[in-house]
Amino acid sequence: MSCSLRPVGRAHRARLEQLTRSTGFADDQLVGYACWGPTPGTAATHDLYWIAVDRERQGAGVGSQLLNEVERRLMADGCRLIVVETSSRADYGPTRGFYETRGYTRTATIPGYYAPGDDLVIYTKELATGDLARAAP
Ligand SMILES: CC(C)(COP(=O)(O)OP(=O)(O)OC[C@H]1O[C@@H](n2cnc3c(N)ncnc32)[C@H](O)[C@@H]1OP(=O)(O)O)[C@@H](O)C(=O)NCCC(=O)NCCS
Repeated sequence: MSCSLRPVGRAHRARLEQLTRSTGFADDQLVGYACWGPTPGTAATHDLYWIAVDRERQGAGVGSQLLNEVERRLMADGCRLIVVETSSRADYGPTRGFYETRGYTRTATIPGYYAPGDDLVIYTKELATGDLARAAP
């Protein structure tokens, strides 16, 4: 599948919520989204807040295209480090695999963060060289 990326606005809110909850595919062309932003107090670190693909379209390459495009834009903007948070729950195993296959390192875990037995798992990816990512600001 080939995708084009466009900004989304207030008018897309219902569809974004639908995708976030991974409900079925509706009738428009929005099949996935990603949102990200700079991490306050850091030197060019960015958080990937959310990435979601319509359940009916998952596994078809949409998420990879979105992530590639996010990374391409962040690199162009001089982003150094990208941070992603997800859950340790078994049903998030495919999501963790998605990040790991795409060069994200499991950097930290906060046990019981979401709920007892449901840890916060933090993935990071250096978009520049390792030296640059570790250099003092
Ligand atoms: C994680 C997600 C964004 C990946 O997007 P996608 O379009 O399904 O992924 P792609 O088709 O580009 O890539 C498929 C890869 O993702 C993995 N994957 C993760 N979740 C998957 C799912 N629900 N269905 C199919 N593949 C999935 C596959 O194992 C595959 O890994 P591989 O390439 O290493 O073999 C998407 O599955 C999704 O929206 N999941 C639910 C919401 C979520 O967990 N978001 C992240 C919150 S931190």
